[in-house]
Amino acid sequence: MERTLVVVKPDAVQRGLIGEILRRFERKGLKLVALKLTRVDDALARKMYAPHEGKPFYEPLVAFITAGPVVAGVIEGLDAIAVVRGMLGATFGREAQAGTIRGDYGMSQRYNLVHGSDAPDSAEREIALLFDADELLDYDAARDAWVYAEHRGTII
Ligand code: RTP
Ligand code: MG
Repeated sequence: MERTLVVVKPDAVQRGLIGEILRRFERKGLKLVALKLTRVDDALARKMYAPHEGKPFYEPLVAFITAGPVVAGVIEGLDAIAVVRGMLGATFGREAQAGTIRGDYGMSQRYNLVHGSDAPDSAEREIALLFDADELLDYDAARDAWVYAEHRGTII
């Protein structure tokens, strides 16, 4: 199973969309293995978004993610990184397809509601930035027996 970081960004927290966004991940069949309401301070924001350093939107992005509380979570599932990115939709709300989170709730080129890791190495790096190892919980979700099937010893 793969793990990915999601961050419900300050705009979504302020708009009262925490439950709506987490609900979608749960109902998809993804499993939360860590979750907290927290703040991203300036130093953490710069580490999180280091790959974007120097881009024109970098400083506004740091200001945005530090502007209020966020909900950080770690989500586990088969191909969780790609599945979550698909559920978020394109980066900018007006371009994101209806049915995706950004497509359904977003209109902005900056305020786009949720972050999702974009690759296995960034997921590992970002999870370690937001969570201590002992905050990640290993447990069996009863529903998994009906979320996934098994074929010749492989979970599919
Ligand atoms: P995220 O990292 O937040 O999941 O979003 P993403 O992969 O879809 O987009 P990314 O390219 O990683 O950009 C990170 C965040 O920076 C803001 N942004 N502004 N041209 C712009 O003005 C611009 N481009 C990106 C967005 O808030 C985006 O989520
Ligand atoms: Mg990104």
